[in-house]
Formats: sequence, structure tokens, C-alpha cells
Amino acid sequence: MTADAQKPVTVTALAKLKARGERIAVLTAYDAAFAEVLEKAGVEVILIGDSLGMAIQGRDSTLAVTLEQMAYHTACVARGCRRPLVVADMPFLSDSSTERTLLNAGRLMQAGARMVKLEGGARQLPGVAQLAAHGIPVCGHLGLLPQSVHRLGGYRVQGRAEREAHRLLEEAQALEEAGAQLLVLECVPAALAARVSAEREIPVIGIGAGGGCDGQVLVLYDLLGLTPRPPAFAKDFLARGGSIEGAVAAYVEAVKAGTFPSEAQTLA
Ligand code: KIV
Repeated sequence: MTADAQKPVTVTALAKLKARGERIAVLTAYDAAFAEVLEKAGVEVILIGDSLGMAIQGRDSTLAVTLEQMAYHTACVARGCRRPLVVADMPFLSDSSTERTLLNAGRLMQAGARMVKLEGGARQLPGVAQLAAHGIPVCGHLGLLPQSVHRLGGYRVQGRAEREAHRLLEEAQALEEAGAQLLVLECVPAALAARVSAEREIPVIGIGAGGGCDGQVLVLYDLLGLTPRPPAFAKDFLARGGSIEGAVAAYVEAVKAGTFPSEAQTLA
């Protein structure tokens, strides 16, 4: 194992991976036990997603997840790993004003996060700038925004229309300029996601966004085949991995090799 493979992953390390063209493997986790498995498999970023509302609370959306629940699961994950960058989601309405964003992000950082993720583009810019000014690393999230599922009318691909695609390109640029150091693109056409990744300096992590991104993220329970109706872009790695450790290792290998997502998991 090289020295770099042991050092904690930082935003600088992620930027270097992008510059070298090495894909970044990201997974969600919600507890210490899985965080340890992910770290051993070489996952670079662990996201405590508010997807925990669906994955472990049995809800049909992320809206009911609270800041206290996010802080609790963030602390659990942070205790289970040392090397991966631990990123915590800001839950629904915890970012409804710049002041709330700063206070609530601070709570997640104190719980053990080393970066926070916020959903949305233009409306998040003052909050992103404020967090950056206070030294809090930020991950943006564009495309399908699960916290806006009712406004969007369902979990649907975003950015197919030219006007939407144009707005997404502009918002990605604005988030980077406001200080975001990582960006998640969820459920957008592969060509659009590849363009954002090529145009932006910060690493772009895709989920349902094709193979042209700088890295990939999946909800851990989708990868383990535990989701009753998994999204079309997900893949059950446990079916062939043989064990949880084997499944996570197979995912990391497939992301690094560029074989996940394949055509079968790519949305047009
Ligand atoms: O909450 C979550 O797990 C996420 C990923 C789907 C990116 O935001």
C-alpha cells in the first residue's frame, strides 16, 4: 500500500485524482460497521445521504429526515473510518436561509463530517459562499433533487430539455465559483453530465448520470440488492460479489476501471 493510499482523503486529493483522470469511488453509509467495510475496499468518499430516510427508515422520500438524525449517523460513520472523506447531507429545509445553513452545517461538522452536501443551484449560492468563507467544504448537488420530489412530480431524469440543460451547466459553474469543491449530478443524461465534468475544475460525481463523470456514487443498499424496487441505474454487486466485502470491492474496481456504469445502467 502506498503512503497516499493510507492518508486521509482531502479535497486536494480528490482534485488530484480528477487531474490524473483516476475515477473516484463514492458510496453512502449510515453506520460504523459499513464505514469500516467501505474504507477497507478503498472507497474514497463516504456520503451519509439523507437517502437513509428510505434505505433504513422505510420512508418513501427523504423529507422527514432531521438534522439530529443526520448528526447521529454522521457520528457513527466517522467513528468507523479514518481515511475516506466523510460527507454529510444537509436535510430538507436545514438550508432554508444562509444563517440556518451555516449553523446546521456546523452541527454536522462537529458530529464528524468533513464536508456537507446541499441540494440545488441558484438558491444555494449565498449559503455555499458563506460556508466556504467559514472554512466548511461544500459539495453541490444538481439534476434530480430528491428533497424536491413533490415539486418535480416524481423521481425523474432532469436536464433533457435544452433550457434545463443550459441552466444546469450555468448552475454547476456558479456553484464552483461560489466555493463548492465537489459536485453530485443525479439522474441527468450521460452527455450532459460528461460535459459538466469536462467543463468544471472540481470533481463531478454521477449517480444515474453515465460513465463520463469523474466518479460514481451509489446508495449502498442498492449495491447490496436490499432495495425492493432499485432505480434503473443501480446494480446489485452482491449477486456476483459473494460477500458484502466482495460486493463493495467489485464496485470500487468497476468504478476505477470505468466498467460501471455500463450501457445497461445509463439513462439517455
Ligand atoms: O442521499 C443520498 O444518498 C444522495 C445520493 C443519492 C447522491 O444524495
